[in-house]
Amino acid sequence: MEISVVGCGYLGAVHAAAMTELGHEVVGVDVDEAKVAALSGARAPFYEPGFEALLQRTLATGRLRFTTDVTEAAGAQVHFVCVGTPQKYGEYAADLRYVEAAVESLLGVLEPGELVVGKSTVPVGTAARLAELVGEKVPGALLAWNPEFLREGFAVQDTLCPDRLVYGLPAGPDAVTAQRLLDEVYAPVVARGTPKVVTDHATAEMVKTAANSFLATKISFINAMAELCEATGADVVLLADAIGHDERIGRRFLNAGLGFGGGCLPKDIRAFMARAGELGADQALTFLKEVDAINMRRRTRMVELAREVCDGSLLGRRIAVLGAAFKPDSDDIRDSPALNVAAQLQLQGAVVRVTDPAAVANARRSWPQLDYADTPEEAAAGADAVLLLTEWSQYRALDPHAFGRVVAQKRVLDGRNALDRDGWTAAGWTYRALGRRAG
Ligand code: UDX
Repeated sequence: MEISVVGCGYLGAVHAAAMTELGHEVVGVDVDEAKVAALSGARAPFYEPGFEALLQRTLATGRLRFTTDVTEAAGAQVHFVCVGTPQKYGEYAADLRYVEAAVESLLGVLEPGELVVGKSTVPVGTAARLAELVGEKVPGALLAWNPEFLREGFAVQDTLCPDRLVYGLPAGPDAVTAQRLLDEVYAPVVARGTPKVVTDHATAEMVKTAANSFLATKISFINAMAELCEATGADVVLLADAIGHDERIGRRFLNAGLGFGGGCLPKDIRAFMARAGELGADQALTFLKEVDAINMRRRTRMVELAREVCDGSLLGRRIAVLGAAFKPDSDDIRDSPALNVAAQLQLQGAVVRVTDPAAVANARRSWPQLDYADTPEEAAAGADAVLLLTEWSQYRALDPHAFGRVVAQKRVLDGRNALDRDGWTAAGWTYRALGRRAG
């Protein structure tokens, strides 16, 4: 099939390459010339394991190209909309201007019988409104919503082998046409027996926000338990292991620590609350305010813990921060809990040096006032305390004996409950973590 993908950020770039891998002829469209040039040259504009290899492989087929000219999307049977929906400045609601601009730009090339497929995370009701616009301007053209659940760090695998497909289809006989086109797009995925949920626009839009709200709630639940553990001397890691053995609960996404950040969970739960308010159903989601508040409290608690181990004052203390990305295997620093803590520490007088295997360049651009180092050893040289804030595997694998020789004080704060407490304490470190007794 001929396919266009409008918006070549994280979601769109991976989607365009993955659709080529599935056998289609794909054009990726983006307004950012630098991004288009990088992608056309088989360079990934962001860090994502496996993506550059996929990009090289798919570009080499000659069936994938990138452009800034939306008219090159003409002739495609299916047009994916993969642009961002950030939080509005000073509001909880999502900013839909990029989605609207993308759909409007497609109106000039759309032909009857073609399908626009929204993948961006949008407030419920958006698809119905856009479907009306598409049908009005190009009679016979259709719109479906097909949310994407990719996780950064696993984007290639999640796109090529999703754990489910969700089709939000237009009502009436148009549903058959739209479903046929989507089944053709995803033919190899469908043939593998991937579960498929076929539904209406509103449900499909809500699947995405509900899933992210559930994940955020799960993380904040265990972090609330961590607060209680801190108050009682109980151990949140063992608590999570024990409750996680119950299949109904499950151990995944029960890692207590600094909490969630990134470009999705924080803004999606806020946009969901804003939309519920508009619909007069705000009570249904007031619990998400609490989820958000628990999450943000973890960052403050981490700063307090750092002050505590530094004998009550951060002034002039040298602090090494391991991790700047919002999670490992990513260079994404959007709403990064690690950088938030690093900045708070610095504002309170500490001398902070941050390191990260992939995110230093991005961090330096957004937080130029922080000091950066290339390696954990360099960051920790002469440090009064070391904070592990993003659990990269290379930090988990640090040898506490050797690492102990570079610091001034062997104090480690494990913000992700990712280190071997016994190993670090045996090597002479004072070990502190969120939700666990001191080691
Ligand atoms: C998320 C959803 O998982 C994905 O399905 C959706 O498409 C986009 O949003 P992502 O933002 O890439 O994906 O990251 P995710 O792996 O969900 O982690 C989000 C945050 O939660 C990270 O900051 C991570 O460190 C934190 N987290 C995750 C925890 O604090 N504890 C956990 O147990 C799991």
